[in-house]
Amino acid sequence: MSIEQTYRQRFRRSAALHQQATTCFPSGVTHDARYALPFPLYIERSQGVYKWDVDDNQLIDFWSGHGALLLGHSHPAIVTAVQQQMACGTHYGGCHRLELRWGRLVQHLVAGAELVRFTSSGTEATLLALRLARAFTGRSRIIRFAGHFHGWHDLIMPGADSEDPRIGIPDAWQQHLLTLPTDLDCIAQTLADHTDIAAVILEPSGASYGGIPLSDRFVQELRAMTRTYGVLLICDEVVTGFRVAPGGVQQRAGVIADLTCLAKVLAGGLPGGAVAGRADVLRHLAFGDADWNARQKIRHYGTYNANPLSAAAGCAMLEQVATGEPCALATQRCQALIAGMNEVLAARRMQGWTVYGDASIFHILVNASMPITPGEVPHQVPLDELKRGGDRRLLGPLRLALLNAGVDLMRGRSGFVSAVHTDADVTTTIAAFDHALAALQADPDNETLISRR
Ligand SMILES: Cc1ncc(COP(=O)(O)O)c(C=O)c1O
Repeated sequence: MSIEQTYRQRFRRSAALHQQATTCFPSGVTHDARYALPFPLYIERSQGVYKWDVDDNQLIDFWSGHGALLLGHSHPAIVTAVQQQMACGTHYGGCHRLELRWGRLVQHLVAGAELVRFTSSGTEATLLALRLARAFTGRSRIIRFAGHFHGWHDLIMPGADSEDPRIGIPDAWQQHLLTLPTDLDCIAQTLADHTDIAAVILEPSGASYGGIPLSDRFVQELRAMTRTYGVLLICDEVVTGFRVAPGGVQQRAGVIADLTCLAKVLAGGLPGGAVAGRADVLRHLAFGDADWNARQKIRHYGTYNANPLSAAAGCAMLEQVATGEPCALATQRCQALIAGMNEVLAARRMQGWTVYGDASIFHILVNASMPITPGEVPHQVPLDELKRGGDRRLLGPLRLALLNAGVDLMRGRSGFVSAVHTDADVTTTIAAFDHALAALQADPDNETLISRR
């Protein structure tokens, strides 16, 4: 049986649900990343590192709630905190103690978080950070880097992906964006040539949470450069915050951004985001006298900002993060997984394939167009190719083969390791990866594509 036939047989009920969903949702999905051919999986329940689909197949999960679940699914500390809060109320339409505790934890963990404003998502956090930067500097342009993703709003989506059509986004708005390569000379020249730049925003470990890796040295030099030109530095740590280290990439790199965007781990698996940073910048959210309110104050609303349930989950999560243990454990397991997967690739003599990553995040590069040895960090591979994960013809089959083998990766090629993935889970996943590759190599459609040198 082919990989796809096995998939269709194994995940039958998902196929039926997807069929129904196509008459309810565009392409049957509620998030672009969940779109998959021939159909995506429908999940029924989850616990720890596992999730079970509607056919009761057990999967080891590395999708990990799009990176939010540093403590795995339904961690007891988070479940208890949310259940207790649920009984007390889900929305007070008012201030509450938990939001203060949550904000204090952010201040404690994120260097430079002099003040914090909660939002409902990472997209809202970057939207707010850009508006703050413009209000503070009185300038309009933003430098962003090719391939870096900062949510889907109009102000920042162009440039996130070279394949993204800019349909629906006014041309005039795009004029306020400069999309640059991550080249320090080019950035320095642009900063010198333009006096209207408010901020530089980046994913500090590189586009796609390190899929296109950036060094800490780059972030350090960018920090120095932006300071020299009086331009704000915005670190989008929506994925890396509280994961790469308790204080995010900035802690590791010894850098303090002017503004930091947070979400995912921040809210313990519930919806939530935040902008944290310099008090003089966040001051534009504060009320003042009539003149300030009319001219300088940014209006910021959001029904679910600092929602009590998210605050409860977020506090439970960040209290654990503050011990340093979850980040360290997840990183250790991820690095073991990367090493094991590369051994499998090497044993199968799969040139052009590699598994690489940063802290507890890993990526598979599939059948690159240039020689890459398993274990190598693919610095020389072109951005577009890295961004999509390599050879399009093999990405789909690999995703299905991994699911057939019981492993769920984000888009079938990236993973977020949690602190509750065990050594045994690492071993099982490496064996499943081997199994998936065997199926891929055995499939006559793929065999000729896979180089064995
Ligand atoms: C780096 C980065 N910034 C911002 C966002 C947007 O966050 P959200 O999906 O919570 O809107 C994401 C989402 O994956 C992200 O990866």
